[in-house]
Amino acid sequence: MRLEGRVALVAGGAGSMGSAVAQLFAAEGAAVCVADMDKERADEVVGEIVEDGGRAIAAALDVCQAEQWEQVVVSAEKAFGHLDLMANLSGSNYRVSFDEQSEDMWRKIIDVNLTACFIGIKAVVPAMRRAGRGVMLHVGSLASIHQGAGSPAYGVSKIGLVALTRSAAASYAQDNIRCVLVSPGHVDTNFLRGDSAHSPNSWETSIENPDNYERRRASTPLGRLCLPEDIAKTFLFAASDEAAMITGSMLTVDGGAGI
Ligand SMILES: NC(=O)c1ccc[n+]([C@@H]2O[C@H](COP(=O)([O-])OP(=O)(O)OC[C@H]3O[C@@H](n4cnc5c(N)ncnc54)[C@H](O)[C@@H]3O)[C@@H](O)[C@H]2O)c1
Repeated sequence: MRLEGRVALVAGGAGSMGSAVAQLFAAEGAAVCVADMDKERADEVVGEIVEDGGRAIAAALDVCQAEQWEQVVVSAEKAFGHLDLMANLSGSNYRVSFDEQSEDMWRKIIDVNLTACFIGIKAVVPAMRRAGRGVMLHVGSLASIHQGAGSPAYGVSKIGLVALTRSAAASYAQDNIRCVLVSPGHVDTNFLRGDSAHSPNSWETSIENPDNYERRRASTPLGRLCLPEDIAKTFLFAASDEAAMITGSMLTVDGGAGI
C-alpha cells in the first residue's frame, strides 16, 4: 500500500497506460479520479477498480480546457477530501511527414501533449498547496530524447515536457510539490496499434503490421516492447515516497531503446 491516504487525478485515465496507472495507484491504496474525454471507458475503468475493492470516480475531461480541469479538481476534492497526486497520460499524434503535417495537426498535438500539461499543473497546484504536498507526473517519449524525421509537433511537444517538468519542479519545490517526467519507449498500446481520432494509424504505421512491430522490437535492446504495466510501475515509484528526493527529472522506461 505505497499510496495509502493519497488522492490521485489520472488524466487520460481511460487510455492503455492511463488505465494501468489508475488501477495500480488504486491497488496501492490511493483513491483515484479517472478523467478522460472518453467518459464511457473511464466509467469502465472505475468499475474495474471498484470491483477489485478500490475507491474511484470517473470524470469527463478534455485536457485542453482549463475550466474542465478546475471542475475535475473540485470533484476529486469533494469525493475524497483532498488531492495530492496527478498523472497526465493523455496524448495525441499524427504520424505524417514534416511536409504533410498541417498547421491544424501541429496545433492539436502541441495543445494536447504540452499546453494541456501546463494548464493541468495550474489547476492542481492550488489543491496540492491545500493538501500540503503533491506529485505531478507527465508522460514523455523517446522523442523527449532524440528527434527523427516525421511528425515534428510530436517531438517538439515531448521535448518541451522536459523543460516544463524542470520549470514546474523548480517553481513548486517550496510547496512540497514534485514534478517528474516518465518517458516510455515502444509500448504495445492502442496509441500504436489502433486507429483513434487522437492517434490515427493505417497499415503503414500500426504495429498490427508485423513489419512495424518487428522494427520497434528490434530497436529495443531488451528484446520486447514495453507493456502498459511496465510504465505504470514507474509511475507508482515516481508517485511514492521512495522517490521523495526525485524532482525535475526524466525517468526513461524503454528497454534501452533510447541508448
Ligand atoms: N504507446 C507508446 O508507445 C508510447 C510511447 C511513448 C509515449 N507515449 C505517450 O503515452 C501517452 C498515452 O498513450 P497510450 O499509449 O496509453 O495511448 P491511448 O491511445 O491508449 O491513450 C490515450 C488516452 O488519451 C486520451 N485523450 C486524448 N486526447 C485527450 C484530450 N484532449 N482530453 C482528454 N483525454 C484525451 C484518449 O481518450 C485516451 O484515453 C501519450 O501521451 C503518448 O504520447 C506512448
